[in-house]
Amino acid sequence: MTAEFLTLHSRHSTVVLECPPGEAPLWRYWGPRLPDGSTPGQALRGTRPLPSFMLDFDQPLTVLPTFGVGWFGQSALLAHRAGRDFAQAITQCTVEWTTPGSALVLRLTDAVAQLRFDVSMALDAATDVLTLQTSLTNLGDADIDVQWLAAGTLPLPGDAATVRSYAGQHNHEFLLQTDTLGRNQWRRENRRGRTSHDCFPGAVVTTPGSTEHTGLVFGAHLAWSGNHQQTIEWLHDGQYQWQMGEWLAPGEGRLGPGNSLHTPEIIATCSTEGLNGLAANFHAALRARMAWPGGEMRPRPVHLNTWEAFYFDLVPGDVMALADAAAKVGVERFVLDDGWFHRRHHDRAALGDWWPDADKFPHGLGPLVAHVNALGMEFGLWVEPEMVNPDSELFRTYPDWALQIAGRPLITARNQLVLDISRPEAAEYLFAKIDTLLAAHPIRYLKWDHNRDLTTAALAGGMGSAGYRAQVQAVYALMARLRAAHPAVEIESCSGGGGRIDFGILRYTHRVWGSDCIDAMSRVQIQHGFGQFFPPEILGSHIGTAPAHTTGRSQSLAFRAAVALTGHLGVELDVRHLDETTLTALSVWIVCYKNWRDQLHHGRVWRGEAADGLVWQAHGDAQDLLLFVYRCQPTSHRYTPPLRLPMLDATARYQVEQLVPIAGEGAVQSPAPFFTALQDGGVALDGAWLAQAGLPMPRATAETCFIVRLKKVLP
Ligand code: GLA
Repeated sequence: MTAEFLTLHSRHSTVVLECPPGEAPLWRYWGPRLPDGSTPGQALRGTRPLPSFMLDFDQPLTVLPTFGVGWFGQSALLAHRAGRDFAQAITQCTVEWTTPGSALVLRLTDAVAQLRFDVSMALDAATDVLTLQTSLTNLGDADIDVQWLAAGTLPLPGDAATVRSYAGQHNHEFLLQTDTLGRNQWRRENRRGRTSHDCFPGAVVTTPGSTEHTGLVFGAHLAWSGNHQQTIEWLHDGQYQWQMGEWLAPGEGRLGPGNSLHTPEIIATCSTEGLNGLAANFHAALRARMAWPGGEMRPRPVHLNTWEAFYFDLVPGDVMALADAAAKVGVERFVLDDGWFHRRHHDRAALGDWWPDADKFPHGLGPLVAHVNALGMEFGLWVEPEMVNPDSELFRTYPDWALQIAGRPLITARNQLVLDISRPEAAEYLFAKIDTLLAAHPIRYLKWDHNRDLTTAALAGGMGSAGYRAQVQAVYALMARLRAAHPAVEIESCSGGGGRIDFGILRYTHRVWGSDCIDAMSRVQIQHGFGQFFPPEILGSHIGTAPAHTTGRSQSLAFRAAVALTGHLGVELDVRHLDETTLTALSVWIVCYKNWRDQLHHGRVWRGEAADGLVWQAHGDAQDLLLFVYRCQPTSHRYTPPLRLPMLDATARYQVEQLVPIAGEGAVQSPAPFFTALQDGGVALDGAWLAQAGLPMPRATAETCFIVRLKKVLP
């Protein structure tokens, strides 16, 4: 039995679909690159004898498996028209290649249920990233209620072993959760109205024997900043299907005649180079999507953020003095956090009233911005546009702008409510307020916060239907409008730390605040998880105080700096009160960051965990690598095993040099000649040896970092 196949290739992966007439295309393959021209040869149904007591017509996994006419697994669509049309099946498929060989749109029709689906699929040649997106159009003459529409359905091989997803909470983001795949359905859902701390919209699936560096792994991420759902389900032919999409609140998927529902995109990829290969693909994909002012990323400027220095107690003289001190240590962008606007003296009032507090800033923000600029720094400002405190001018004037359900109490979180910014007048108000600030002052950066989950999210002043989806679309639109009006302004996505980190918000933003927890020990774990999907240059990563405000733990300045400077570096402490020695040390770390940021932020990133509790990451390429080895716990080995660096060129020699003394309190426990030589010009070592046998590790105290550069020696 011959068949028609659709093949998409990238450098290292291939997708193959089979197109039987009058159906949705069948999934035949998503995995490592097949040679050009390689096809399954045979139609799938011709190769699978029917099992006993099954339907007489075999129904394999398609790109859009639908419920009711023979597919018994998770459906890509759950929908009905007042109870009818609950079963759907594709009756016609037209293929439109948008880029021959790598991108297409499948136009699928269900002539009975009167539905059209446009499934877009693109496999990016350079990054190996497969994007999927689905649109559903109601061709009938009555409303259809959609409960679930998968953004895409992906196949996973039957030997898929574990799924690594990320849980967490405020101050504890990117907490790895590893589950074994089996015949139970694996499912994660988020209904908090924002990307959330608890349930990252993405996961990684491993196959047996895969490691950080080797083996076949799959990853997918939903580019969406609201509710979401993903499911991995075992199928009777031994493979798995993986669906991902927006979790729709009841009523949100109601489509009138002629109307369409567009899902967010799935960003998926597979790699035979283990978790680090997967990370490299995600990083490259995000880098290609980022919309930087001027079209290109500038070196990421060192921030000082005022939050932990002052909290709400902003006194202009103190803020200016902090700016003076910040400029002296090398800060390049000064960000005025919460507390600057009308009657904002604590977290119980004022959100919504986006003009400077007249007591704190009697002449507005102008003098402070000018002062910061005169010191050679850019000025940045904190806002939380989507929120309103009941105690605010805005709420007193427009109480019905807050998301609410008529007859139900207002549910506050951090004393605040969420504005229904899908209301044009609310969006207009926010645009006007922020636009006024940006037009009046050379503000180059907004820290855009979102500090609560959504509840009672009904539209139309509490009388309407659920508005979770509308809220996300509205914030994207508001950000896009502000960016168009002020193209030089960068935006940071913050949400009580890392509650809104995803490829969706990153279409409009340029940095994310990874966590309110700046404790360097916690940050090692957070940035390790973050790095699976996102490149380091967008991670706000600050040198905080000791003890850390959120954990009470103390670490040396050197360790705090060594952890922070692999991301987009900032300082979040009151530098006015540091002693001379600490100030000098801080300035030296900032100089290190400025010298290294090009390499830290442009190359590949390899991450790993090694024997004796070491966590490491390396930035660059096989020519020149910056390696950070974090020792978070005391050694449990008499001799720490060497660290293998498989990304190095086995045919080359490397000059290995320790760039700074071991960063941390107490640091080296016992010296050895090799480590003295590393600091004294370095040592030339064989790439194959370093890759297979490893780099010797120093003996150091806990909470220290060993930083070396490995540079290929020219033959
Ligand atoms: C959130 C942010 C913090 C800070 C405060 C201000 O918690 O994550 O960094 O901006 O809001 O209220």
